[in-house]
Amino acid sequence: MTDIKELLLSRIRDVSDYPEPGVMFKDITPLLADPAAFTALTDALAEITGRTGATKIVGLEARGFILGAPVAVRAGVGFIPVRKAGKLPGATLRQAYDLEYGSAEIEVHAEDLTGGDRVLVVDDVLATGGTAEASLELIRRAGAQVAGVAVLMELAFLNGRARLEPALDGAPLEAL
Ligand code: PRP
Repeated sequence: MTDIKELLLSRIRDVSDYPEPGVMFKDITPLLADPAAFTALTDALAEITGRTGATKIVGLEARGFILGAPVAVRAGVGFIPVRKAGKLPGATLRQAYDLEYGSAEIEVHAEDLTGGDRVLVVDDVLATGGTAEASLELIRRAGAQVAGVAVLMELAFLNGRARLEPALDGAPLEAL
């Protein structure tokens, strides 16, 4: 295992039966509280930003905001929040996606993304891939290009990578 992977893994806390019985929650708050780990994560994500030629970072509410904002500053690109529906005041694009039970909607300010943008989506966890997939739809509907998706963790047993593949359309999915 590489040093950075070991460092990041050591700062993620497994919480069993949260938020409901049978679920193992991946808590990133110990990582955020450790400046060496948080800096290493930010640097790694900023490197991906540069390598993919991204001109904007989209962060997915809520933990994608915490991770994505310092990456945008470090990489010298803009940060755009994709929020759960009903939280943004301006004109938005809205995208629905399926959850295990029911559905959810996310939104972005329409004017934040333009045809010239190449967008890297940043989040903490790729689980089923539904949230990231919906965010890629929003980016494309806004006329922008997808540079890729970068996450701290991929829960491979949920097959999010396979679900995301068509929407990625050849762009990389990087899981640290
Ligand atoms: C979690 C996580 C990702 C998403 C991954 O966020 O931070 O954004 O779920 O799940 P998926 O791949 O199955 O779509 P959550 O919806 O719990 O929101 P929060 O960060 O606001 O708590």
